[in-house]
Amino acid sequence: MRDPYGRPADSFGYSADVLGFSQGAFTLLRDIIAQRLGVFYGDDKRDLLTDKLAGLVAARGMTSFLDYYYLLRYDTDAERHWSELMDRLSVPETFFWRQPEQILALANVVAPRHFEQRPHEPLRIWSAACCSGEEPLSIAIALAEAGLLDRRPIEIVASDASEAMLERARRGVYYERSFRNLPAHLRERYFTPEGQGWRVQRRLHERIHWSTANLVEPAAVRPLADAHVIFCRNVFIYFADQTITDVVRVFGGSMRDDGYLFLGASESLTRLPTEFDLAEIAGAFVYVKKSAARVAPAPAADAGAYRRF
Ligand SMILES: C[S@@+](CC[C@H](N)C(=O)[O-])C[C@H]1O[C@@H](n2cnc3c(N)ncnc32)[C@H](O)[C@@H]1O
Repeated sequence: MRDPYGRPADSFGYSADVLGFSQGAFTLLRDIIAQRLGVFYGDDKRDLLTDKLAGLVAARGMTSFLDYYYLLRYDTDAERHWSELMDRLSVPETFFWRQPEQILALANVVAPRHFEQRPHEPLRIWSAACCSGEEPLSIAIALAEAGLLDRRPIEIVASDASEAMLERARRGVYYERSFRNLPAHLRERYFTPEGQGWRVQRRLHERIHWSTANLVEPAAVRPLADAHVIFCRNVFIYFADQTITDVVRVFGGSMRDDGYLFLGASESLTRLPTEFDLAEIAGAFVYVKKSAARVAPAPAADAGAYRRF
């Protein structure tokens, strides 16, 4: 028997007529997905991965997950299939003013400190898994509220691996769930009602440069990570430790010397070998590039707001 690409069916040790999601097909797909997209499905997440892939497999009239694996590996249109798969695996759970203490630490401590030390150097901020855009827009709102967005050179770049999420971000219209944590007066100030939702003010939306980038592709990450501040929140929870270590190494290699890395509340680097130290700034946890902590200690004025562990 031959597989869909004409090779002997047992070339991976599995026959092509395997129906359903055998352990072998699961392992092959899980590993290639982790390698290509970062997202790792452990054995306990097998049902979840099955649910997510079933529609894509069925839509192609395929009868086995192994056929879908071959499609991802060898099809001439594999890039399109990977993009579709990324959209399918993306977890679009995000909202404005998520972990506001981090956003406020950036606007009220990190950014003012940056302009005190380097008044003419643009502050570069990257939201590295921006989903539908609520995170970078919250950053822009906080900087506008601090009176910095229009008065200081600030560049905000936002990216995600999912084209579908970026499409939503580029559209700039948001619905009730996205506003569950944003103070009402900020919604009134920066959004206008449109249909069932709210459109973000154009001047804010235009301050953000939107792009696609996969965190596990160093060539895509390096230019974006050449930043003073990276927000990479609530995506490492889906990655294996080795992948996180590799991505953070690329961040560290490109970030500015006094770089700040904000992660999600349930994410931690402390057990991994990285060049970042955990610090607390104005009640928010942040990772600071080690060299930065040595050469650029917090200035006396806000020393009380800054603690390194
Ligand atoms: C749960 S959302 C987090 C959004 C936002 N950072 C927040 O904290 O509210 C996770 C996002 O990570 C993105 N993602 C998953 N794997 C990725 C990868 N390899 N590269 C870039 N983004 C990825 C998903 O598409 C999704 O938009």
